[in-house]
Amino acid sequence: MPWPSLSALEQRVSAWHLQRCHNIADLRRAAKWRVPAPMFHYMDGAADDEVTLGRNASAFDDIELLPRNLIDITHIDTTTTVLGQPVSMPLILAPTGMSRLFHWQGELGVSRAAARAGTIYSLSTVGTHSIEEVAAECSGPKWFQIYVFKDRGLVTEFIERCRAARYHALCLTIDLPLTGNRERDQRTGMTVPPALTMKSWLSFFLNPLWSLCHVTSPPFTLANVAHRVSTGKDVQTLQNYIGSQFDRSVTWDDARVMVQQWNGPFAVKGILTADDAKRAIDIGATAIILSNHGGRQLDHVPAPIDILPEIVQAVDGRAEVIVDGGVRRGTDVLKALALGAQACMTGRGYLFGLGAGGEAGVDRALSLFKKEITLDMALLGVRNVKEITRDHVRYRRRIRD
Ligand code: GLV
Repeated sequence: MPWPSLSALEQRVSAWHLQRCHNIADLRRAAKWRVPAPMFHYMDGAADDEVTLGRNASAFDDIELLPRNLIDITHIDTTTTVLGQPVSMPLILAPTGMSRLFHWQGELGVSRAAARAGTIYSLSTVGTHSIEEVAAECSGPKWFQIYVFKDRGLVTEFIERCRAARYHALCLTIDLPLTGNRERDQRTGMTVPPALTMKSWLSFFLNPLWSLCHVTSPPFTLANVAHRVSTGKDVQTLQNYIGSQFDRSVTWDDARVMVQQWNGPFAVKGILTADDAKRAIDIGATAIILSNHGGRQLDHVPAPIDILPEIVQAVDGRAEVIVDGGVRRGTDVLKALALGAQACMTGRGYLFGLGAGGEAGVDRALSLFKKEITLDMALLGVRNVKEITRDHVRYRRRIRD
């Protein structure tokens, strides 16, 4: 927590920005204004030419909604379940690393906002707050995002800690054996932890509130692994430690061991083909998350919404299918549901809120989504999520084979 007077000023400025934000694009603009360029572009940017990043969002435009009218829509029920957990809407929060880069409240602020909104928060392995800290703050349903690390002892430790802290599900990320080519980070002088460099100093100077809150709040750390490194406070060492844990030789057999160890609800995130979806089910996954990591890994892979129908067909009801990527509107969520998804995930959708106004900005992002989903369901002529069917959408132009 920064100095009380600074924190109060920061909250007032956040409120001023947030009342001007009427959708997720507005929150993105406010975050761009408030967060120093290296951090903003780390969140906003993607790999190579960012073709996939753009397609994640634009692919939703190729789908049209087909409303039914003269239906009694007095009561709209947006609730559903995800992996057996009741949620207030079919939208849950994706794991995103190092949330304190965008606002000093970081994962604690995001997870509290998710609990207030009645939906699931997924904590990243690379969080700046720990499994236990988030569990203490977040009364809502929680997932933990995990990798198969080289040190299987660390994996076992995470599983035990999640069990003790009553996390509901594990979410295994499979599309990050190494990090994608993010050129914006090279241009802006992005560093972890944030540091003044020749390229970045001006952006810190132009964002004094972010910078002052950053230096006056508790030191930035990678909290889930800090105890594993003797110089636990040195973030660069911690980052190198995590980097050294990525194992390029991981296979589905290793993932199967993790599923068995956890023995509970288990999502596999980063699926883009029917083949991988079937493999995930074979090893015991109970949810498949269609995701290209927000376009941050391999460029030119398909948008999750484009491949959803073929994956739903391949999965054939054996696991829940969740769509992650480009979800910015209530209509995006309804389109995914109509094509067979159980729910959507958003990462940048709430991070823009975090950058724009901290925890209150995440509240704003989630309430905007809820408001849009409710209104759009009414206008589509559906009273609950079960009423949304394939007949509510059609392709504007056919996706080419
Ligand atoms: C990590 O998961 C990242 O996309 O930066």
